Amino acid sequence: MKKKLIQHTTDFFEKSFQKAPEHIFLSPGRINIIGEHVDYNDGFVLPAAINKYICFAVSKNTTTECAIIAKDLNEVYKFDLNDNLQPVDKMWVNYILGVLHQLKNKGVNQGINIVFSSTIPMGAGLSSSAALECGIGYIMNKLFDLGLSKEQIALIGQKSEHTFVGVNCGIMDQFASVFGKKNKVIKLDCNTLDYEYHKADFKKYSLLLLDSCVKHTHLTSGYNDRRNEVEQGLAIIKTHFPEVKTFRDCTEIMVLGLKEELGEILYKRCRFVVKEIKRVQDAVKALSNDDFVQLGKLMTETHHGLSKEYEVSCEELDFLVDAVANETSVLGARMMGGGFGGCSINLVEKGSEKDLIEKISAQYRSQFGIELKAYKVKISKGTSEYIN
Ligand code: GLA
Repeated sequence: MKKKLIQHTTDFFEKSFQKAPEHIFLSPGRINIIGEHVDYNDGFVLPAAINKYICFAVSKNTTTECAIIAKDLNEVYKFDLNDNLQPVDKMWVNYILGVLHQLKNKGVNQGINIVFSSTIPMGAGLSSSAALECGIGYIMNKLFDLGLSKEQIALIGQKSEHTFVGVNCGIMDQFASVFGKKNKVIKLDCNTLDYEYHKADFKKYSLLLLDSCVKHTHLTSGYNDRRNEVEQGLAIIKTHFPEVKTFRDCTEIMVLGLKEELGEILYKRCRFVVKEIKRVQDAVKALSNDDFVQLGKLMTETHHGLSKEYEVSCEELDFLVDAVANETSVLGARMMGGGFGGCSINLVEKGSEKDLIEKISAQYRSQFGIELKAYKVKISKGTSEYIN
């Protein structure tokens, strides 16, 4: 699949620019084992890059003009590096311009031609947008020797999303896309950006994604609303507990004690955050001890928190998680990523995937009339140049 992606992206570049590309880059999507909606709350997350990529075929040209071709959308966007880069009304272009805007005057002094194509499904919660932002940042860094660290590339990607796209996202997706390592999950401390790699060996089990095929249209508004709510909640907590700097310092008891003052909504949101931060720590222990039953249990708990307390799930995702609850081959399941659609991530017994997919697909079809998609993913390396 990777080879095919590289081939057709390269071919399309040649066809479009009458020359072979000088470079090929791959930027991956990500999964997240646990730690949802806590990256912007100074929590821990446990993501990993996966073997679904955006492939970029790239060459510098001799002008200051850039031509970017989104092969899958059959769209071209051209601009001059000397233009005043502003958000436009094409979303995919904004991810790119948001990155280039930050790199202006940093040494990008020559136009480039790019064709990109992807195997990361869009709107499925697998961070195709972070893959695009980080891919562009990585390419510019390489081609123009900008001296950016991986962390800076991830932060530039995140800022692009804040400023040119309007999603006030955390750092998890970009970090995972850039720092991904084969067969490793990343335990990222979103407060300090310290990170550790942990072995992603699930022994008898594997990770299966079930794509609800519901596109998260409420993500932008719902996501930013959640951020505002937890900020308000934390401000209230801080007035009572001056020792609290971030959610990391909060306990469930503190939140419980402020139930009335917080009000129902902020109470639920804050309680989820505090519990989720703790769950990630427990999940890392479970993973290190090969205690997959416990890991699965924690994942399912996360889902219920995301659905009932943080309220970022949707009917279809709840259905997918409930549908596997009594399957003995499934240790745990939860919605993954920003929510309001996208995929569930399931920890399932190896070998049971096919039957499970058939069974759940039939139920899903009959309930919603939607054809479920399923992805078996491998944990792979982060954004990099592909050298043949
Ligand atoms: C989206 C955001 C991330 C993170 C997740 C939820 O993917 O881009 O920063 O907040 O949602 O965990």
